[in-house]
Amino acid sequence: MIEVANRLHTVEEYYFSKKLREVNLLIASGKPIINLGIGSPDLQPPQKVIEALTNGLLSPNAHKYQSYQGLPELREAIAGFYKTHFSVNLSANTEILPLMGSKEGIMHISMAYLNEGDAVLIPNPGYPTYQSVTKLVGAKPVFYELDATNNWLPDLKSLEQTDLSQVKLMWVNYPHMPTGAQPTETVFEDLVAFAKRHNILIVNDNPYSFILNDSPKSILSVKGAKDVCLELNSLSKTFNMAGWRVGMLVGDSEHVNHVLKVKSNMDSGMFYGIQKGAIEALKCSKMWFSTLNSVYQQRRDLVWQLADALNCTYDKNATGLFVWAKLPANVRAEEFIDLILKENHIFITPGTIFGSQGEGYIRFSLCASTEVLEEAIARIK
Ligand SMILES: Cc1ncc(COP(=O)(O)O)c(C=O)c1O
Repeated sequence: MIEVANRLHTVEEYYFSKKLREVNLLIASGKPIINLGIGSPDLQPPQKVIEALTNGLLSPNAHKYQSYQGLPELREAIAGFYKTHFSVNLSANTEILPLMGSKEGIMHISMAYLNEGDAVLIPNPGYPTYQSVTKLVGAKPVFYELDATNNWLPDLKSLEQTDLSQVKLMWVNYPHMPTGAQPTETVFEDLVAFAKRHNILIVNDNPYSFILNDSPKSILSVKGAKDVCLELNSLSKTFNMAGWRVGMLVGDSEHVNHVLKVKSNMDSGMFYGIQKGAIEALKCSKMWFSTLNSVYQQRRDLVWQLADALNCTYDKNATGLFVWAKLPANVRAEEFIDLILKENHIFITPGTIFGSQGEGYIRFSLCASTEVLEEAIARIK
């Protein structure tokens, strides 16, 4: 038996990777499963994006290795996107690194900045990858608790009562997944000041800004943020391009270069046609967002009805691709979703996969058609 590396013992297979095997077995056995678990957009990307990819295939450059930093036009398009939607100025030459989805950025940033034993502040509840990557690189996750009473925002005052001397990096994610909480006017300013006081690098993971949200915000819009902050963004949800794997890291050139040093040793550039498609997507007008969100709005209304039928409560001001719903008192999330899966053949994500603060909550994805959601409501009623 060949022993695996110790780091592999620090993580488990991703929840969805395991659970979807179970769900697929049910489907294979003929059960009519409705999947409201994962946030993988079922809608199509803009048509011009598909055309740009298709035309890109015919270019003589299409099949060569591509630049480690992406096509200059892609970086220009990202700079334009940040200027238009977030009023943030970025140098296309030095402050942007295209990524194959923002998820890989979590690993690259951690590899670039973390030594074994460094502490990392991670939101609870939060995206599970922050924790697993932290463990894979031998660093120490330190969870900061978010709760509904504080609108799922970090309590920096109480964090400052703790020993932060080992903390090197802090993950924040606003608009927040899974709760859909929005950043307030001041939270990013407070975070930048906090990062400066404690010499911590803050990374805002920002893939949900454009879903059911009229006021996208970037942490980099705060004065002086580039000294201590990076931001990840993605085309996965904004343009229904999750399977394309396109995202970006933006921030000060020195930070971006450190991450490039890792990334350029791990892959050899993004496929040309995908970059050409991404450029077109980033140039979409506001019309794209309003059309997309009118679909999600209809779906969310139905998911709210589904949540009502399950006696759950939820915040109507929340944004993003999910509805985060509180279960009736004393109902445990995993038991509840297993029951609904068994009896109604509906798969919903238990809040606990996002951390202990997710106990008592479930998360519905909006990546299902209105017909499917109506069927789910009928099954519960
Ligand atoms: C909070 C958060 N960050 C990052 C990602 C990864 O997105 P991408 O497809 O850009 O890798 C997801 C995907 O679900 C997410 O929910």
